[in-house]
Amino acid sequence: MKAIVWSRYGSADLLQYKDVAKPTPKENEVLIKIHAATVTAGDCELRRFDIAPWIWLPVRLYVGVFKPRIKILGQELSGEVEAVGQNVTQFKKGDLIFAEAGFKGAYAQYTCLPTTLAMAIKPSNMTFDEAATISTGGINALHFLRKAKVSAGQKILINGGGGSIGTYAVQIAKNFGAIVTGVDSAQKLDMLSSIGADHVIDYKKEDFTENGKKYDVIIDIVGTSSFSRSIQSLNKDGRYVLGNPKFVGMIKGVWTSATTNKKVIFALAKGNIEDFDYLKKLIEEGKLISVIDKKYPLSQVPEAHHYVEKGYKKGNLVITIPHS
Ligand SMILES: NC(=O)c1ccc[n+]([C@@H]2O[C@H](COP(=O)([O-])OP(=O)(O)OC[C@H]3O[C@@H](n4cnc5c(N)ncnc54)[C@H](OP(=O)(O)O)[C@@H]3O)[C@@H](O)[C@H]2O)c1
Repeated sequence: MKAIVWSRYGSADLLQYKDVAKPTPKENEVLIKIHAATVTAGDCELRRFDIAPWIWLPVRLYVGVFKPRIKILGQELSGEVEAVGQNVTQFKKGDLIFAEAGFKGAYAQYTCLPTTLAMAIKPSNMTFDEAATISTGGINALHFLRKAKVSAGQKILINGGGGSIGTYAVQIAKNFGAIVTGVDSAQKLDMLSSIGADHVIDYKKEDFTENGKKYDVIIDIVGTSSFSRSIQSLNKDGRYVLGNPKFVGMIKGVWTSATTNKKVIFALAKGNIEDFDYLKKLIEEGKLISVIDKKYPLSQVPEAHHYVEKGYKKGNLVITIPHS
């Protein structure tokens, strides 16, 4: 089968389009014929090994000290179940699914995923390309909003609203009944308004922590807002979610949560079937869409990584996987 092989940390140009052996499912695994994957900011960060210092060592030990032990990147996919291991009862051959790929990789024609990773039947009204984007953006967005206990009528600001997680966060927050401000670069603001943002801010022209406005919840997906000024931009009892937490921010967060009535939250998302089903229901009710900027075929994953790293991406970038 064809795959994009990752053999060295560094530039996207080191990724190679190659023939590799097609995997065979173990007893608790599902063999998936992949139709679509994505390139996320997280994929690029892992490829460069641009990992936060506080988790650098454990992640490096897990992924490979001198070179990656994990040979295929890509953390989410959609496709068709081609075979299942003898202990798998939840899925059968022919099921059309979307799934988190974990460290098993999605830049390939096939993969075998254990059923311990979250996967679900694809929403009936989504294409494979659209469904491939749910597992990272949708799941993290839902997790952050739930952790912040976002409810109807609350004012919520999403910093980095135009990306993979942000475009889902804006829409899910609107579904919760919140009044949403999306912050991103100028070329993404019309798109943010089109998916429901009530207000938009161009971060290159205005610092939301210095405009005098207050919010019940601030979700900093991209991890760039000033900690102290973001806390000051919260209403009484406000919540500040660190979607991309740094060590210092977490220490300050524990202190702030312990000594004030404001809460700082930095829990990482873990995909689960209940959340997959929740998002699927919203999608099938027409309340949630996948924002896709561009598509590249599997052979052009390096070009796709370059595009994402330039910061052009609006919402999601999809990798289509041909099989002929
Ligand atoms: N905590 C977790 O569990 C978790 C899970 C997944 C991902 N992450 C991390 O979260 C980050 C975002 O993920 P993503 O997939 O949503 O990335 P993404 O698709 O690249 O979206 C990030 C968005 O933020 C914008 N941005 C950049 N600088 C900004 C600033 N100073 N103020 C406001 N917006 C800014 C970017 O636009 P421009 O480039 O046009 O400026 C882009 O639209 C990544 O670093 C990723 O590793 C965390």
